[in-house]
Amino acid sequence: MLILGGSASGSLAEKVAKELGQEAGQLEIKRFPDGEKYLRIHGDVKDQDVVAVQSLYRTPDEYIFELLLLIDTLRDMGAHSITVVAPYLAYARQDSRFYPGEAVSSASVARLLEAAGTTSFLTIDCHLHRLGDVAKVFKIPARNLTAMHELGKYARNHFKPHNPIVIGPDEEAGQWAAVVAKELDAEHTAFRKVRVRKEGMTASKVEVDTGNVELKGRDAIFADDIISTGGTIAEAAKACKKKGARRVFVLCTHPVLADGALDRIKKAGAVKVIGTDTMPSPISKVSVAPVIAAALKS
Ligand code: R5P
Repeated sequence: MLILGGSASGSLAEKVAKELGQEAGQLEIKRFPDGEKYLRIHGDVKDQDVVAVQSLYRTPDEYIFELLLLIDTLRDMGAHSITVVAPYLAYARQDSRFYPGEAVSSASVARLLEAAGTTSFLTIDCHLHRLGDVAKVFKIPARNLTAMHELGKYARNHFKPHNPIVIGPDEEAGQWAAVVAKELDAEHTAFRKVRVRKEGMTASKVEVDTGNVELKGRDAIFADDIISTGGTIAEAAKACKKKGARRVFVLCTHPVLADGALDRIKKAGAVKVIGTDTMPSPISKVSVAPVIAAALKS
């Protein structure tokens, strides 16, 4: 198996290769003065099972196009199979046509990857609100992996929590809280997120309903797939502190972290915020390489 990392995920591809006891293959990517990309695969890929690792974060359009060039070149050079690993799958959230004429972007991205020659697909903690399963978006075999076991192990070793409760900041995040809780042998629950839009407000405000969960003197550990503006976690953290939580910790798979997100969460009372390396960030402390390597071996 040959592991190749695109320019979004070169170091992650190296870690995955190392987990598999090998070195990543060589890819040369440059930019022409007019903005176009140049891509060259060094080495022979004929009849090989190739894995292309490219996380589609922050500048997804650029990374998607580069990935298409890579897949199409691999197919053209006679690769036996092409597994795409996109730890963060951009455009996943637009998985339905809410208004006539809208692009169903998740389906369009899947069709592009398939048309280029992808034979199987892996992603991590993909948030498909309505479809639920990435296998429904692709025609080729596609799997959603989870980083929550790794995040839970990190929490166990580094947070050393006292009487912990693992919380999903909204109902959909309950599934991730359950996995982390298992690693910590702890209780878990999920809050209810309500988006409130009062008259005169341009954007909606997030409010959380904590239900009747007992938090006094306990360590609260949030588990979520994405932190973007930090609004969801900040409101949930404030609610925990109000109810007397001792310490608030935050775990997430994809640290998108819009400007000010970390500050917002820390100001709300969180003592530690930890994410994975599906995308580089100041909090990307947990690697998803073992999760990807295990899936490639199975
Ligand atoms: C929402 O359903 C997701 O699971 C995350 O909770 C959400 O995307 C986080 O966004 P933000 O950090 O902007 O509140």
